[in-house]
Amino acid sequence: MQALKEQFTADLAAAKTADAIEQVRIKYLGKKGSITNLAKNTDFHSLSIEEKKAFGSKLNELKNFAEQALAAAKEAAANAAPAKKTTGLDLTLPGTGRTLGSLHPITLIQMELESIFQGMGFTVVPSPECELEFYNFDAVNIPSDHPAREMQDTYWLKNQMLMRTHTSANQVRAMQKLGVPLRAIFPGRCFRNEAVDPSHENTFYQCEGLVVDKNISVANLIAVMKTLLSQIFHYEATVRLRQGFFPFVEPGFELDFQCQLCHGEGCSTCHGTGWLELIPCGLIHPRVLEHAGVDPNEYSGFAFGVGLTRLAMMKFGIPDIRLLNAGDVRFNTQFPTFV
Ligand code: DAH
Repeated sequence: MQALKEQFTADLAAAKTADAIEQVRIKYLGKKGSITNLAKNTDFHSLSIEEKKAFGSKLNELKNFAEQALAAAKEAAANAAPAKKTTGLDLTLPGTGRTLGSLHPITLIQMELESIFQGMGFTVVPSPECELEFYNFDAVNIPSDHPAREMQDTYWLKNQMLMRTHTSANQVRAMQKLGVPLRAIFPGRCFRNEAVDPSHENTFYQCEGLVVDKNISVANLIAVMKTLLSQIFHYEATVRLRQGFFPFVEPGFELDFQCQLCHGEGCSTCHGTGWLELIPCGLIHPRVLEHAGVDPNEYSGFAFGVGLTRLAMMKFGIPDIRLLNAGDVRFNTQFPTFV
């Protein structure tokens, strides 16, 4: 009995699943089980009453022990955690977030400007970065002996073309292509061969705008500029015009914007003047209209050149122009993904 008990205990310890435990039960306590058979195989005739009694109670003890051990093992097997399936998928792990790209501050400003101008009935016109000398200079009244040509250090290409130095280069193209009356903007990249420092870049963005119609006056120009600035800065813009000189406008102006940080009081951003020089503009010079085949006696118009790069720096408080072209993700990802 003792040997059987030890063997049973070892078998049960090795049985880890409910099925295996059941096999152990059958092996020892089943109809032909070795504990069950113990009574059958014993020759009781040779035993005394006392011995029979002792045998019977030992056998019962063994049966009880085996039954209890089996029940405990079954319960333990049922409670044990189910075997892990190895699918490699752990639903309790935190998810991996996806990083979306963000929009470049120039893109953000450009999109905002386009939508503001579209709201005022302007068309957004694509324009080439690589230009003919004629459109960049002659067509906008900058003949070859004009000093303004030297002021704009031009990148010349081998084929007599150039990298446009301003988006004004598209004025005559746009009028030729689309005809008049016209309300259009052409945002884009411009290039000047300049030494790069915190406030100068050789590659920067402008947004040129043009309105040509009958009876266009400076009042129309001011109204459009005020609408633009009020919408960009979410602030009722106060503007003023100062005389400015550009060969393609007559009269020409520098449109100043009252500093929204100090409300005209004077602060470090506006260098104590209360005003920020913002948008050069003017009434289109008759010679520019003529270059486009538009009769200056019939039509007039205004033009303006918004410095997109400068505007982005003002709006987002960017201290160094070189950050805009550096492609540094630490900078680029500080701007919104959506507008
Ligand atoms: N093209 C000029 C520049 O790059 C900016 C400019 C001045 C554009 C006056 C205009 C304007 O349309 O009327 O400096």
